[in-house]
Formats: sequence, structure tokens, C-alpha cells
Amino acid sequence: MTDESDVSPVTRSKSEAKSAYDRLSRWYDLLASRGEEKAKKTGLRELAVEVGKTVLEVGCGTGSSMETLAESVGEDGEVVGIDLSIGMLSITQKRIKKVKLSDRVELVCSDAANLPFKEDSFKAVFMSFTLELFDTPEIPLVLFECKRVLNKDGRLSVVAMSKNKTEKDTFTMRLYEWMHRRLPKYVDCRPIPLQEILKNAGFIVTSQEQFSTWRLPIIVALTKKTH
Ligand SMILES: C[S@@+](CC[C@H](N)C(=O)[O-])C[C@H]1O[C@@H](n2cnc3c(N)ncnc32)[C@H](O)[C@@H]1O
Repeated sequence: MTDESDVSPVTRSKSEAKSAYDRLSRWYDLLASRGEEKAKKTGLRELAVEVGKTVLEVGCGTGSSMETLAESVGEDGEVVGIDLSIGMLSITQKRIKKVKLSDRVELVCSDAANLPFKEDSFKAVFMSFTLELFDTPEIPLVLFECKRVLNKDGRLSVVAMSKNKTEKDTFTMRLYEWMHRRLPKYVDCRPIPLQEILKNAGFIVTSQEQFSTWRLPIIVALTKKTH
């Protein structure tokens, strides 16, 4: 059985995370697996962003999903991407400029645990492979911030490496967690019990799909806020 207390702690500091992603930014897209890309596409499809809306991506990285979101909102909508790493944001900026969508995209260098936006600012929030980078006590803070900036009927789509509360950890999962503990600067994320975490943070999971990467489960969860 897995609960939040079984999740490995994150020992890397934020400034170490920022520097690591700044260094990785130029190579990041070469490392993405097919499983990850498929899961992200599903998360974006489930979020079903409408034309004219304002949406946020938390931890937008090199901007592959920002491009899709910017196409979905159309010329009257707006997409805001936040990330801790200037290096990652500058790759996103180049990507968005190349496809001529800069007029509807804003990029902000910020910590997801302290979003620089007013409440009720966004119709939808997307977050992929980012929540599992935060230390366990900070995950509810990040989700609280997502909830705060979302509209009353807003939706949050989360794609994350996940472990199931009712299943025993597989050998691959134990190996991955072992590497996370031994090499926290390189293996920076780890599986989290996503459904339980979302529920505890006040989100209702309205649909869910499972994928895998390197034989590790990925959950794509579409949620709405509880009132
Ligand atoms: C594994 S990458 C995922 C990027 C992108 N979402 C994707 O799926 O390709 C995690 C991203 O989260 C960003 N990040 C890490 N810590 C963060 C924090 N405290 N606040 C905001 N972004 C953060 C990193 O800079 C990186 O771009």
C-alpha cells in the first residue's frame, strides 16, 4: 500500500533545480520519451481548451504544450506559461516566435508554489511532469495555488508519474526511487499517489487515463474544483 508518507523526499533546493533545468534546456526535447508525449497530448485533449479563453501552464518547460494551447485559444485567447528556469523559458519563447503565436502567449519566470496571479484568473490550468518534482509538503501548496487562480468552474489537467495506493510497488518503481534518493540532482522526479493528492487538495477527478514511460506508470487526470 502506498500513501503520501511513502513518497521519497526531494532534497534538491530550488536554486539547484533552476540551474539544472537551465543547463538541460538545450537538450531537454531530445530526452522526452514517446510515452510522455502521448500522455501530454491526452492531457491537453482532455482539458479541451476553448477559443477565446485564458489558460495557464505551470512548469511549461520548452513549450511543446504551450504551442498546442496557444493554437487552441485562438487569436482572442491568451496562454500564460510559468517556469522556474529562464533557460527553459527562452526555448519556449523561440518555439512560439517560430510558429508566430507570440501575440497570445505570455511567459513568466516564477515558482509554482507562489503564482504571481490574482484569484479567478484562468479558465484552465495544465501541468505535466512538474508536480512530482516538488517535495511532498510543497505539493499541496502548488495545488492550492492552481485552485486559487482557477475560475469557479475551471479545470485542471495534471500529467504525472504516479504510484497506485492499492498496488505493490514494482521492481522498476523501487529501482527508480532508489536512484532518486541516491542521485537527486539527476533523477529529480519520483512517482506520487496522484489521485489521493488531488482529492486531498480539493479537486474532483472527472476522468483519468494511464500510460507508461520506462515501465513506470503515468496518470493523466482531468479535475475540477470542489466548491
Ligand atoms: C520535467 S520538466 C517538464 C516540462 C514540461 N511541463 C513538459 O512536460 O515537457 C519540469 C519543469 O518544471 C520546472 N520547474 C521546476 N521547479 C519549478 C518550480 N518550483 N516552479 C515552476 N517551475 C518549476 C522546470 O524548470 C522544468 O521546466
